[in-house]
Amino acid sequence: MKKLPLFLFCSIQILFSQIDYDPKLIRGATACANCHPTAVSHWEGTDHFKVFSGTDTEPAMHRRPETKEILGKLGMKSAKRGVCVDCHFTTQHLAGKKRARAISGPSCESCHGASGNWIEIHGVYGEDASGGKATRETEIASHKVERLQNADDNGMIRTNNIYAIAKNCYQCHTVPNEDLVNIGGHKSNSDIDFSTWLNKDIKHNFLYSDGKSNRNAPRDFDIAERQKKNKIVGLLVDLEYSLRGYAKATSEGDYSISMKNRIETAISNLTAFESSGGESKDISEALSYVKNISISLSKMDELSITADNVRKIAITYSDK
Ligand code: HEC
Ligand code: HEC
Ligand code: HEC
Ligand code: HEC
Repeated sequence: MKKLPLFLFCSIQILFSQIDYDPKLIRGATACANCHPTAVSHWEGTDHFKVFSGTDTEPAMHRRPETKEILGKLGMKSAKRGVCVDCHFTTQHLAGKKRARAISGPSCESCHGASGNWIEIHGVYGEDASGGKATRETEIASHKVERLQNADDNGMIRTNNIYAIAKNCYQCHTVPNEDLVNIGGHKSNSDIDFSTWLNKDIKHNFLYSDGKSNRNAPRDFDIAERQKKNKIVGLLVDLEYSLRGYAKATSEGDYSISMKNRIETAISNLTAFESSGGESKDISEALSYVKNISISLSKMDELSITADNVRKIAITYSDK
């Protein structure tokens, strides 16, 4: 038998990045600042920003001792390359440069979509009825419909797409990476609840008041309706992504245990919401899928199918 090179026998844990957006389409928060100055300065006060820059009292994430410990266990050298950037940073690949690089923490485009193809479309009102430059108030109705559709088609995640926004949060915050947790010792998942976390420091609804105040819901939304919708979509997406996270487990360990707990908590939160007299049709349907569910490593296919079913309900409800 031909001798295999020795390194194949060492366990190489380095975890590679699997960013699901195109870093060439990232423009960075500075590209939004001229038109959305309040959103940008508000974001600069959040942990999503500070994780990259650090503060007077806390170093940036890539310099923290806990980070070095995790990197060591995984055989990695830098948090600015490899899997860590997927959730902790925004990565941009400038034209003419050899490599993409981390430019900030999770930012505007982590939640609203990489903007290269929509940034110049989404806020342009076109001509008004008399051929002059339209404003938000005088924009022709058909132009508005076309503009927003065009932005959506080009990858923009707007405020009415609650499902897509919530999905982004849970993709990062459930930490769906078994080796990162079991081998790296990374915290297994956040105790995130979409609707309440949205109203923590990340809330930034300034358009309605032209930058003067931070409302409880974006403009064009009835606040109570919006909060209820955030609550329900959040609960459904939590269940979906807990199922997806668990379905990625390959062995019993911290990762599978915490994802299993997460599924159970998501189910009991939905049950509690239903019995408190909340919206019942969509939630009952979701609960019917998980009623007799068996959360075990031998049932991964079933759990993935259940996640797909819950997704359908969440999207339909979000689009209502
Ligand atoms: C040239 C000015 C301009 C720039 C640059 C700009 N925006 Fe906007 N944006 C607007 C305007 C104007 C609106 C309001 C559109 C409307 O009335 O429907 C808007 C609306 C939005 C909305 C709300 C859309 C909705 O329907 O929910 C989001 C989200 C948004 N912008 C994100 C961004 C992000 C992220 C960036 C940077 C990557 C950015 N914008 C850059 C002008 C701009
Ligand atoms: C799948 C998403 C994801 C990946 C990949 C990821 N992290 Fe995290 N990480 C998070 C989230 C979300 C938090 C915040 C958890 C919380 O406190 O709610 C976090 C928190 C941390 C913390 C604790 C910070 C604190 O404030 O206490 C450290 C340290 C850390 N991550 C290091 C790393 C390193 C190093 C890597 C790469 C090897 C990495 N992370 C990869 C999502 C991720
Ligand atoms: C690209 C990945 C990513 C996305 C998308 C994301 N987050 Fe985070 N978030 C993180 C990481 C990483 C941290 C931890 C930062 C640190 O270490 O200080 C964090 C921290 C936070 C914190 C502060 C931590 C705490 O315990 O209070 C809140 C609140 C938060 N995120 C809410 C949200 C919400 C709500 C969404 C969706 C609307 C969202 N995040 C989307 C990665 C992400
Ligand atoms: C953690 C995810 C997240 C990040 C980061 C984020 N947004 Fe948002 N953004 C949202 C959500 C969610 C909403 C809808 C608000 C709500 O439901 O309360 C929103 C709403 C908006 C709106 C419309 C608000 C209104 O008044 O109608 C604009 C404009 C906007 N974001 C721009 C930005 C810009 C610019 C940045 C970067 C500086 C940014 N966002 C960063 C999640 C995010």
